[in-house]
Amino acid sequence: MKNLLPLLNRLMPVMMPILIILLTLQALMSLHISLDGIIQTLGRARAFYGPIALLFGVMALSGFFFDRHATKRARRGLRRKRGIFMDVLARLTNRKALEEMLAQEQKEALIDADELAAGLRARVIGQDAVCEDIAQQLRRRLALHIRGKPVGIFLLAGPPGTGKTYLAKQVARQLGRKLLHFDMTQMSNAFAATQLFGSPKGYVGSDSFGKLTGGLKEFPDSVVLLDEIEKAHPDVFKKFLTAWNDGHVTEASTGEQVSTTRAIFILTSNIATEELTEIAQNFEGDPDRMRAESTETLRKAGFAPEILNRLDRIFVFRRLEGLDLARVAALEIEIMIDGYGLRVEPGGIDPALLFQIMQRQQKIGSGASARDLVRSIEDMISETLIIARQGGATLVRLVSSQDGVKAEVTAESESTRSRLSN
Ligand SMILES: Nc1ncnc2c1ncn2[C@@H]1O[C@H](COP(=O)(O)OP(=O)(O)OP(=O)(O)O)[C@@H](O)[C@H]1O
Ligand SMILES: [Mg+2]
Repeated sequence: MKNLLPLLNRLMPVMMPILIILLTLQALMSLHISLDGIIQTLGRARAFYGPIALLFGVMALSGFFFDRHATKRARRGLRRKRGIFMDVLARLTNRKALEEMLAQEQKEALIDADELAAGLRARVIGQDAVCEDIAQQLRRRLALHIRGKPVGIFLLAGPPGTGKTYLAKQVARQLGRKLLHFDMTQMSNAFAATQLFGSPKGYVGSDSFGKLTGGLKEFPDSVVLLDEIEKAHPDVFKKFLTAWNDGHVTEASTGEQVSTTRAIFILTSNIATEELTEIAQNFEGDPDRMRAESTETLRKAGFAPEILNRLDRIFVFRRLEGLDLARVAALEIEIMIDGYGLRVEPGGIDPALLFQIMQRQQKIGSGASARDLVRSIEDMISETLIIARQGGATLVRLVSSQDGVKAEVTAESESTRSRLSN
């Protein structure tokens, strides 16, 4: 029965005329109408045949085009219900209004470049040139409405612990976009591609989408962070090249194509750190030359040339030094204090504490990164913050002494003071 119904459905155009002819003959015979009478009547109505045929022709054609158009629209990621393609948004909401809102939001994202640069500079310390450059790039690239490729494919290169991963996270945050973060050190085997792009039908995992394909399907505007890209397996590289060149990725389990044209790809790399640092210093005032030299250096260091050719821009990070380290330390302390559900009083970080942290950093030597810094801070202040939190504090000041660092509670004294003065 299940197979018979579609077959009957398909035979409908043939069956219907036969049925109508038979019914007409039956009616003519029952009414005793002669063939001559019919021919005479048909002759009298001759003038109307042309216009009627034309009218039907126009109706049939417009029906055909409407159907084709509706099916095409409905197919775009929508579902099929009882044989009829139906856009769920057309059915359940005002799709046009929603599209206008999205277009408006995209327009608003364009004008935020200066604000974005300022926001990034405030968070990512010591990398002002990179922050400004990336904000400008994003502004220009987001302005291009028609593009068959991702918004941008950027490489952040430079020494460890200088804020590469951190910047990518901040870009996503400041643009209000979803971050899809992939650690490429985990993608160094041949099976890694299935994690990102799904497994072919019949294989384990083919009942769900890959992390990248699924992520992009749900959030096409994502910032895709590919951390330490040089560690990825060549098969994974290949798939990314398609994603960038063709403007889509293919989900292996369903063969569905997911667009990458609204995504921003940020790659990070640790290759050729020493040389790149030197280049960043030597060509500080000449960004074009800096990029050309960096590309050459990365090529010589064995960075996959096909990826290098496909990059829209390379940003080289500088090593953090001098007061930059103190700034990162102060920011980290603030984040840590927030993390314990507390707030730091304005001016509430003892400079002696920052000085101590910087000295520890110097002891580690030139290989020291911001990651070591974060670890030092954790060691020094987490215990006292826990105690302050347990004591019910909300606002604290960090004071350094020979016995270590102490979080002094200031909120209590304030509230006591205000209670006394009332
Ligand atoms: N320039 C910076 N400004 C502010 N915080 C920073 C900066 N650099 C590093 N940090 C802090 O140190 C942490 C580690 O830095 P991040 O992971 O960005 O380093 P990275 O450059 O990606 O290093 P790697 O190459 O080893 O992955 C960050 O989460 C951040 O808290
Ligand atoms: Mg990193």
